[in-house]
Amino acid sequence: MARIIIDTENHVTPQSAFLSRRQIIQGAGALALTSAGASYSMAAQGKVPGWLDKKVGSTVYRSYSTDEALTDPQDAKQYNNYYEFGTGKDDPYKFAHEFNPYPWEIEVGGECDKPGVISLEDLLSSQMLEERIYRLRCVEAWSMVLPWTGIELGKVLQKFQPNSRAKYVAFETIIRKDEMRGQKDAFSFIDWPYVEGLRLDEAMHPLAFLAVGMYGEALPVQNGAPIRLVVPWKYGFKSIKALVRIRFVEQQPPTTWNLSNAKEYGFYSNVNPDRSHPRWSQATERRIGANGKIKRIPTNLFNGYDEVAGLYDKMDLGTFF
Ligand code: MTE
Repeated sequence: MARIIIDTENHVTPQSAFLSRRQIIQGAGALALTSAGASYSMAAQGKVPGWLDKKVGSTVYRSYSTDEALTDPQDAKQYNNYYEFGTGKDDPYKFAHEFNPYPWEIEVGGECDKPGVISLEDLLSSQMLEERIYRLRCVEAWSMVLPWTGIELGKVLQKFQPNSRAKYVAFETIIRKDEMRGQKDAFSFIDWPYVEGLRLDEAMHPLAFLAVGMYGEALPVQNGAPIRLVVPWKYGFKSIKALVRIRFVEQQPPTTWNLSNAKEYGFYSNVNPDRSHPRWSQATERRIGANGKIKRIPTNLFNGYDEVAGLYDKMDLGTFF
């Protein structure tokens, strides 16, 4: 993995500051208070509106945690998959400045009683944000441990009142060809926009999350600003970035990686060490941990989030991969 270390205060959280914040938070365990406003904040992100910066920075409630060491912020922000900016791991970081996500609106429609277009500010205004530390397991067999700030997906979806025909939820990333150079690439194998989907009960599961922040700050562009999905028990590609459209639908919606290669990437894509990818094993993963250290560790079913097992009680996970 290529690590780019840029040692200016605009790009990298000083490790000492980051650790001190983590040490404050650790020990208190789950449901701890985060040390809002304390030192793991860093880069002045020029375009982030003040209200969002403040809202994310003042989040004090941590609802979900883990004992595992957090991935360093510079790795989380400089080793990304975001094909809208290119296929290289450092392309999203290099070209993120070309995209301005503000102001932002999300359109919610389909099988629901209260469809509408809502600004990010209105969407978040009545919501208390929370911090959740989740493992992220990419289908490519690397993983990170990341502190997200945001809101439970189900709580947002309920506001739009899905009706009885709503069986799935379809998600879409923005198209902005002038600002996302990967979308202009004539040889791209992705038919833009990037699309994803969940079954309605998966989307309503309390672990499904919408992130607007990471490491106590508004989400960096390369990680999906201003708002992205985080589904921690599924391979990372289900966690769609720069979310601009949500639709409740009756039929299983198309998803980008399944469209590109249905044999390799299923609709469900639950993390599963027993089902190898056709070209590599999924039994272990490369954990990109603290201090840039990489270690090989076993992969767990549902990425260790056993609480979702009931969603798949009657399903053969080999067939519905
Ligand atoms: N969302 C969009 N719109 N485009 C993408 O290319 N890549 C996915 C997912 N969401 C992707 C996306 C993949 S493959 C992964 S592993 C995660 O984002 C990576 O998230 P991260 O870069 O924040 O670690």
